[in-house]
Amino acid sequence: MKHFISLNDLTSTEIENLLKLALRFKKELKEGIPHKMLQGKTLGMIFSKSSTRTRVSFEVGMYQLGGYALFLSSNDIQLGRGESIYDTAQTLSRYLDGIMIRTYKHSDVEDLARYGSIPVINGLTDLLHPCQALADLLTIYEHKKYLKGLKLAYVGDGNNVAHSLLHGCAKVGIDIAVATPKEYMCNEEIVENAKAAAKSSGSRVLITNDPEEAVSNADAVYTDTWVSMGQEAEREERIKVFMPYQVNGALFSKAKPDAIFLHCLPAYRGYEVTEDVIDGPRSVVFDEAENRLHAQKAVMATVMG
Ligand code: CP
Ligand code: NVA
Repeated sequence: MKHFISLNDLTSTEIENLLKLALRFKKELKEGIPHKMLQGKTLGMIFSKSSTRTRVSFEVGMYQLGGYALFLSSNDIQLGRGESIYDTAQTLSRYLDGIMIRTYKHSDVEDLARYGSIPVINGLTDLLHPCQALADLLTIYEHKKYLKGLKLAYVGDGNNVAHSLLHGCAKVGIDIAVATPKEYMCNEEIVENAKAAAKSSGSRVLITNDPEEAVSNADAVYTDTWVSMGQEAEREERIKVFMPYQVNGALFSKAKPDAIFLHCLPAYRGYEVTEDVIDGPRSVVFDEAENRLHAQKAVMATVMG
């Protein structure tokens, strides 16, 4: 594994190995056992969008692995003033051992990997959020003790998080049902790739516009903001269209009685999810946030080790 850009590029075994390593790091951290696998290595973290979890978990994770992380806001580096991805990739490859990037265009991340000579980790693009989906698989595994044969329902916007969950669930054998409004359905190529992966893993992919159909009998229910970073101007229109897709107590009750609730955060209570669900006993959203740290340490140790 050279880069970590899309879960679709990984085999199911590679994903399972990352999850195993993340579980090991998590256990060792709690027991005070050091694992400085990236001693002396440096990660550059380019951010063209805001972040709480990604920024903090990568920086802390790199420290715990014995390395060093530099925060590079795109407002402050020349990339934000029009320096090319090619020149940025070439230059940063002379200083760093790896780059994590959060940006808009997915092709910019692919270009950074193509033009540079060091591993590139995708910290979110308009298209994908693979670090999030990896942490989500870890969280589901911890709560359910297995993955193959479970059903995850994603309700809301067919966005970057939905796309990476499609890839991840299909690869590891989780049935995934995605319910979105007609105007905001998932990228067709991603759905096709997920269906192909599901065929190999023996799972199913259901794409629907009916939230109840998706949630019915689910082991895990997932939603995300209706207004992703970069879509702020569409806020009012989106809220109108997405209201019937709110994950509230009534919708959550259609899932299995022991179903867990997931959200990548940041969450907007009263919009995509109601308080009773996200602050209720079956919500695991802060386990997910914590697991970003452990999952990304596994990614960094694998691609930069
Ligand atoms: N879930 C997630 O990526 O959060 P941040 O935007 O805070 O990094
Ligand atoms: N879909 C959201 C995820 C934030 C972590 C966004 O792209 O803004």
